[in-house]
Amino acid sequence: MKIAVVYSSITGNTESLAKTIKGVISKDELVYFGSPQENIEADLYFIGSWTDKGCCSEEMKSFVSTLKNKKIAYFQTAGFGESEVYFKRLFDNVMKLFDSSNEIVGSYFCQGKMPQSVKDRYLMMLEKNPEDERIIASLENFEKAKTHPDQEDLNRLSSWVLTILKNV
Ligand SMILES: Cc1cc2nc3c(=O)[nH]c(=O)nc-3n(C[C@H](O)[C@H](O)[C@H](O)COP(=O)(O)O)c2cc1C
Repeated sequence: MKIAVVYSSITGNTESLAKTIKGVISKDELVYFGSPQENIEADLYFIGSWTDKGCCSEEMKSFVSTLKNKKIAYFQTAGFGESEVYFKRLFDNVMKLFDSSNEIVGSYFCQGKMPQSVKDRYLMMLEKNPEDERIIASLENFEKAKTHPDQEDLNRLSSWVLTILKNV
């Protein structure tokens, strides 16, 4: 089986997931590992992105809309986490981009740390509205995200990959 790992990552969280996936796949089967580009031919695609405004990155949006009749295992990191409901919403948003001829064989989501600039923005907002519960919750979430993806996220990811490979 020919397998491609195609991912979009700015600060390295999604890339560390992609590298973990690469580590589980046999070298003989891996035909592509890298960012989205044209003409990647594989039987199974592991496709991953960071979360940008409730969906995947713009480059990934363009890439996935070109795919037809492919088997796809989808993964994503998000600044907000700890909620399957939230991850499901993100997944649904991304799935709308795929042509219906594709087969989605699985999905994996976990939290990913955010840049300091995000915290600075929250702190500025909090200065203006010190009682705002949403900003306080966002700051708490920022701290929780700091350690992700962690080893447990990556172990869970490796198990997910093995399950996908067994079932396709
Ligand atoms: C411009 C921008 C928009 C973002 N939008 C969201 C969002 O809507 N929801 C979310 O949970 N995280 C959001 N994030 C957080 C990132 O998706 C998260 O930190 C991710 O793990 C980054 O992945 P990377 O290290 O692979 O680039 C955003 C980050 C940036 C910089």
